[in-house]
Amino acid sequence: MPFQSFLSHAFSWSHLYPPNSVKMALSVSPVAFEHHRLSLGIGETAPRLSYRFDGTAADWEQASVDIEITRNGVPKIFNVDTPDSVLITWPDSPLSSQESATVRARAHGKEGNLSSDWSQPSTVETGLLSTEDWGGAVPIAAERDTEIDGPKRPILFRKDFSVNETIASARLYITALGLYVAEINGARVGDHVLAPGYSSYNFRHVYDTYDVTEMLKQGGNAIGVTVGEGWYAGRLGFNRDIPRNLYGDTIGLLCLLTLTNGDGKKQSIKSELSWQASTGPIITSEIYDGEVYNATEEIKGWSSTNFNASGWLGVKQLPALNGSLVPSDGAPIRKVEEVKPQQIFQSASGKTVIDFGQNLVGWLRLKVSGPAGTNITIVHTEVMENGEVATRPLRSAKATDTLILSGNGTRIWEPSFTYHGFRYTQITGWPKETPLNGDSVTAMVVHSDMERTGYFESSHDMLNKFHENVVWSMRGNFLGVPTDCPQRDERLGWTGDAHAFMPTSNYIYDASGFWRGWLKDAWSEQKKNDLMIPPYYIPTDDPTDTQRSRVRTPVAVWGDVVVGNPYALYRTTGDKKMLEEQYDGAKAWIDTGIKRNDVGLWDRSTFQFADWLDPKAPPEDAGAATTAKHLVADAYLIQMTRLLSNMSASLGKSDLATQYADQRSSLIGHFHDAWTKPYTLIANVTQTALALTLAFDIWQDESTRKTATSTLRSLIANNTYLVGTGFAGTQQLGFALSAANATSDFYKMLLQTKVPSWLYQVSMNGTTTWERWDSLLADGSVNPGSMTSFNHYAFGSVADWVHQKVGGLAPADPGWKKVLVAPEPGGGITSAKAKYIGPYGAVEANWTVDGEGFKLDVKVPPNSRARVVLPGSGEVKEIGSGVKTFSVEGFKVPE
Ligand code: BGC
Repeated sequence: MPFQSFLSHAFSWSHLYPPNSVKMALSVSPVAFEHHRLSLGIGETAPRLSYRFDGTAADWEQASVDIEITRNGVPKIFNVDTPDSVLITWPDSPLSSQESATVRARAHGKEGNLSSDWSQPSTVETGLLSTEDWGGAVPIAAERDTEIDGPKRPILFRKDFSVNETIASARLYITALGLYVAEINGARVGDHVLAPGYSSYNFRHVYDTYDVTEMLKQGGNAIGVTVGEGWYAGRLGFNRDIPRNLYGDTIGLLCLLTLTNGDGKKQSIKSELSWQASTGPIITSEIYDGEVYNATEEIKGWSSTNFNASGWLGVKQLPALNGSLVPSDGAPIRKVEEVKPQQIFQSASGKTVIDFGQNLVGWLRLKVSGPAGTNITIVHTEVMENGEVATRPLRSAKATDTLILSGNGTRIWEPSFTYHGFRYTQITGWPKETPLNGDSVTAMVVHSDMERTGYFESSHDMLNKFHENVVWSMRGNFLGVPTDCPQRDERLGWTGDAHAFMPTSNYIYDASGFWRGWLKDAWSEQKKNDLMIPPYYIPTDDPTDTQRSRVRTPVAVWGDVVVGNPYALYRTTGDKKMLEEQYDGAKAWIDTGIKRNDVGLWDRSTFQFADWLDPKAPPEDAGAATTAKHLVADAYLIQMTRLLSNMSASLGKSDLATQYADQRSSLIGHFHDAWTKPYTLIANVTQTALALTLAFDIWQDESTRKTATSTLRSLIANNTYLVGTGFAGTQQLGFALSAANATSDFYKMLLQTKVPSWLYQVSMNGTTTWERWDSLLADGSVNPGSMTSFNHYAFGSVADWVHQKVGGLAPADPGWKKVLVAPEPGGGITSAKAKYIGPYGAVEANWTVDGEGFKLDVKVPPNSRARVVLPGSGEVKEIGSGVKTFSVEGFKVPE
């Protein structure tokens, strides 16, 4: 199974608590800079420093740290008295543009506690920090008419140059008005794909930095860059008439290559008017529709020196980019895994179909030879229906790649500027000269290459499989931006989905850099609007309209992302600087963005998505929910006001903390006037209405709270423990029940396999999480609704509860300085293991229940602490770092 192979190379449980441990008691990891996965070409001149601990040192707390920073070969040691090992202030003078430094750390414990050795050194280097640093490089485009109303044919740009000196170091800084693939002397630069990714280009245009020292030589050299339309100028959006050219109608290149010789002398090659351009073998390459590649049009040696470029076009200068040119905050998009065909078979109508056994995101790599002109066509789909690949859920996305062979021997080919969400591919035109098998066809898994941090496993196989599916849906939808889905004509950063899934994502991967970049775009997009309303999805496809366009009306849950996500990211990272960056946006949304009625609740005339995809919503009307839309909106408003108050308190803005706490109390009063007092209990006696009011502490007196709890419990029991929530209610349901001591009820829901439930998808052989509770109907047919994706992460948000309540791990304080270890066994599950590689190091909880009772092993990394809450007795233990075991004799798992 592909997923198992991924897990086994990425992580193994076998090293947990090794017997007779010979592990070092204390060591520190290489220093990391801000939230960067890559520290080459960063934008911060005084990057904050973090390191993790490894080892079993008991109750170890840091008193001070030595930080050694080597600049220009000269080391300097800073002795910093601080308990902090995460996001430590840069102790030296700021770095200048393109300056590098090597950093290592050695941590000292409090009195009597040991010190670590020096960490392995890590290097940081700043990128180009101002427009001047680009040395006059200008964006260029081919001197030709561009295709305005159709797909744009990718352009090849090239430039010869000679190098007279020996090269000590060389850097390529590059971005595109579109997507680029760069080559130097015929070899591909770096391993990023779909670079520079998708950002709100009108505000933040990301560039990448590569170390290309080894690719250059003294004498003649050449650089060649292919640029495709990508998100920048391709067809992108949703609904009818999906537009093209959202950010510009001409694809172009901007780059600077700087070479430094041993004496520090610099030479630079930049994009400017002396470059040449041509079209090449890629005929079209579109995000939704796929790529057409004609190998007979390949131009041999075009990115190498000694190439005759006569007949190539000249280039023209484009206006300066709209957005500021900045390095990425997040991880680059990369090919992360390869998956081999599991089965190759004939469809009902005799077409050749490959099943990869896993719904994944990326594309195929082909290794094929055949006669010139052979036309191989690949259609990508997530599911089969009536024995054929099911293309209907893709709507207008063609998701089709075409390779035309040149006849010159065996070709290894992959598309360059498209991606697909698929488990099945239908292949036509495959040449008989090449056997179609795992040697000739491979699926490449592509996503933002974040660090995997969170793991979960239990004695319940279906729950484990569901968790794998959640991970796969995160992988498939964290591609540059957090997308709703990866396969149909949409793939947008829908804010409601991002809001629901963020806490889950923060456990599974270190997505802090990824979110930080996206949240910067969210604030830029929001503040462009005079009422401070964020668009429905970010980046928006509506860059010109600053007012109330069809994707910019105030909506709860979706718009609430500008409060919910910064706060959730703060809970994970403890990063107050990020919180401060996001504070104005969160405040502006609460203060002016939300359209309110005369008492301060949501204006009743506003459009709302609310409990989107309630299981009772019919296929043709995803918004038709059983809970009143403005009840949902008001409940979220109360919670967002609380989070804003919490944010204010965390940032030391105590007056504002009080102001928003007061606002929340008054909103709760108005909520009851509107939604509970006129009714026996509440306007809608639904799982979502009760879950939200319980989870958000809207019931203020004990007796109504008890009634709400017992009503929710009997509602669920009478519904045979089937799910009754949509996007808004799902993430909160488990927490509402646990807070009301009804965890065992939620286990019954979680482990339910009939539709609608989480494990129904597993029982139907799902390998990702679905958009609808019944994307695949029980008879195996695809839901007839026009919105039927098999790779949406929103309902996978339940995994947050799984990590916390089954696995037993959560941050007790922002940034995991203190861990809450509080597993609540139930549902007949007899063991679970959770591991989270957090800011301080690996936190682990591993529990079992057998005939003797409950046993829990906990590992807490140095410089952090844990509060352990034991099940049954509720006994609380406060512990320091190290490995500890707890037991509760006679404990039995509730059914
Ligand atoms: C998307 C969602 C999104 C929704 C908004 C859909 O088309 O796929 O997940 O949140 O629209 O209602």
